[in-house]
Amino acid sequence: MDKLKVMTIFGTRPEAVKMAPLVQELGRREEIQPYCCVTAQHRQMLDGVLEIFHLHPDFDLDIMEQRQTLSTITSKCLMGLEDVLKQVHPDLVLVHGDTSTTFASALAAYYQQIAVGHVEAGLRTWDKYSPFPEEMNRTLVGRIADLHFAPTPANRKNLEREGIRKGIYVTGNTVIDALRTTVRPDFQFAEPELNDLDYENRKVIVVTCHRRENYGRPMEDIMDALADIVKAFPEAELVYPVHLSPVVQECAHRHFDGMERVHLVQPLAVDEMHNLMARCYMVMTDSGGLQEEAPALGKPVLVLRRETERPEAVEAGTVALAGVEHDIIVHEAARLLEDPAAYHAMAHAVNPYGDGMACRRIADAILYHFKRSDRRPVPFAE
Ligand code: UD1
Ligand code: UDP
Repeated sequence: MDKLKVMTIFGTRPEAVKMAPLVQELGRREEIQPYCCVTAQHRQMLDGVLEIFHLHPDFDLDIMEQRQTLSTITSKCLMGLEDVLKQVHPDLVLVHGDTSTTFASALAAYYQQIAVGHVEAGLRTWDKYSPFPEEMNRTLVGRIADLHFAPTPANRKNLEREGIRKGIYVTGNTVIDALRTTVRPDFQFAEPELNDLDYENRKVIVVTCHRRENYGRPMEDIMDALADIVKAFPEAELVYPVHLSPVVQECAHRHFDGMERVHLVQPLAVDEMHNLMARCYMVMTDSGGLQEEAPALGKPVLVLRRETERPEAVEAGTVALAGVEHDIIVHEAARLLEDPAAYHAMAHAVNPYGDGMACRRIADAILYHFKRSDRRPVPFAE
């Protein structure tokens, strides 16, 4: 029997982190002929991840532009992918999550009548403008996809609520698979500033902030709040790897340049980021991925967003929604910095998002779906 042609398509840093262990797993399966295509919606931030996981894409659309718009990303992906898909004609295209690359790739596969598998399916806020445009990207891909790899049982329920019944597999999140390969107690940071930090005696707060719906007033308020927290707590050290978006770079440098105890650094390699989180005191972020990684590492997270499509760790008590308003962010951070009981109530490791076996389940489910195996994978946490 011919091998099953499975093409992974991704373009941004978080998709790459979460698809990398899956690309590796597909490569280990005899029944599968894997292909990897990157859109390079992100360039430098994607290449860093490809390097760490030793991935060598078969196709690279190289679409990134400075200050790109949603329309240019989507149209450049669609145009570029048409040729790639016609050339390979895979049996299955795998996309990840909720970016513009994800949506455009699923649509491009649909136009060629190629089956689509959606990794990290079923997360919802039910608010189409938050996160923007990710909520709608993810929802639309759910409509197109034939296979839905839902990380958690709650994600499965969200899909069922939309009338999707077939092809759902609860797998855990592949980010936990990735995390298992990167965190080491003896890890040495490439950045001397990070090696020299006193993680035992200082309170190191890891910060990231990049969401489009936070551009403008919310981002200004968030940065003002972070600056006030550093001023009020002499033991606090902020480590902030700044996203390469010019909008974010400008805002971060305007607020923090010259401030003591604020370490603005370039985006970190993913193993550096994971090990930094493993050693820090707490995380403040509007990132999706960090909300999944930090709880697994036992670190409290304050989410700098109005809502989250990842409620599991909020329910487990390690993540709290701090919103985007100055006073509330300062209040929530102060509580964790000065009240040991409040801190310890949040600082415990939980793994509602995965057990490190998501990629194995996804590969098993693909083989089961295409009748190359009669073993349906045992769901994660059901
Ligand atoms: C994108 C995703 C978002 C995801 C985020 C992860 C969409 C609409 N948004 O948002 O869901 O959370 O990635 O980080 O798909 N840039 C560089 N080099 C890079 C990466 C970005 O210079 O390696 C700059 C470019 O000027 C680019 C800008 O950042 O135009 C914004 O990148 P873009 O992918 O459009 O948006 P993100 O905010 O990164
Ligand atoms: N990350 C990284 N370097 C950084 C910041 C984040 O490697 O400087 C990793 C992080 O550990 C996670 C992923 O990038 O795996 C999250 O990406 P991001 O926050 O950009 O996107 P989101 O998850 O919000 O879509």
